[in-house]
Amino acid sequence: MKVIRVPGDMTAWAREQAAGGSRIGLVPTMGYFHEGHLSLMRMARAHADRVIVSLFVNPIQFGPNEDLEAYPSDFERDCHLAELEEVDVVFAPAVEDMYPEGFQTTVSVSDITQHLCGADRPGHFDGVATVLTKLFHITGADCAVFGEKDYQQLAVIRRMVRDLNTDIEIIGHSIVRESDGLAMSSRNIYLDKTERVTALCLFASLAMARSDAKAGMLDTKELAKIVRDHILSFPGTEIDYIEFVDCLSLKPVQRVNKTTLLTLAVRINGKVRLIDNGLVLQ
Ligand code: PAJ
Repeated sequence: MKVIRVPGDMTAWAREQAAGGSRIGLVPTMGYFHEGHLSLMRMARAHADRVIVSLFVNPIQFGPNEDLEAYPSDFERDCHLAELEEVDVVFAPAVEDMYPEGFQTTVSVSDITQHLCGADRPGHFDGVATVLTKLFHITGADCAVFGEKDYQQLAVIRRMVRDLNTDIEIIGHSIVRESDGLAMSSRNIYLDKTERVTALCLFASLAMARSDAKAGMLDTKELAKIVRDHILSFPGTEIDYIEFVDCLSLKPVQRVNKTTLLTLAVRINGKVRLIDNGLVLQ
């Protein structure tokens, strides 16, 4: 497995592979790999001849009071895990090479970024859209794999690629969970023992909404109240949002139907922000 640091070297390698007829798959990440990331790599392997994993903690998608400085990292371990997944290249550029002095271009996706995580994290999706546009150009990837855990992110990317006629296939991967249901996340490392138990309230809320909807409670206001009460029954929880939305448009819905997605963002003790989502009627 190669480690490539310089964007120009990454492009040269990818062009050579493409010229030889290889289909290139990309898995964009910010590192500190867990089973979710590794599953994405496996999926890329199944869709491509060469797999590039980018590992870049993208400063422009973090707000001023977010965890950019504290974001967990372990480069050696990540490279070892990627190698075990038969990744061909880890692309780990320096911030100065991605955003050299004078950098002034932003890719901005409008409507779909205005609510949910976009409302709590202004500028976040512009940062994501900009870095991904760069990564798509640098690697010339034929396909890229993203997790449904960041459901809105995936929707933003699909929208952006369609809007800009970017010639890349976007592949979604289902949420990978711990055995007790907690969605895997690099940020779970911030949770202490009690908070780890509290964190289960997100998955439990999903299960609750599902069983109530199955039993005939389809009014999303009523369901949201049940979910809210459950989450707030745990000390230290603060709700960023609980939304029942259409899984394609991400617009709020009044009544649950087959395409209704429950999406949640909850802060625990003011320090860890967790997200989760799932279709209500499976
Ligand atoms: P990061 O949080 O490192 O996530 C990288 C990819 O892994 C994303 O597509 C994310 O949705 C996926 N992922 C994370 N946890 C997952 C889980 N439990 N199950 C399935 N997939 C999971 O998301 C980012 O990085 C960045 O915003 C990035 C796209 C790299 C742009 O900087």
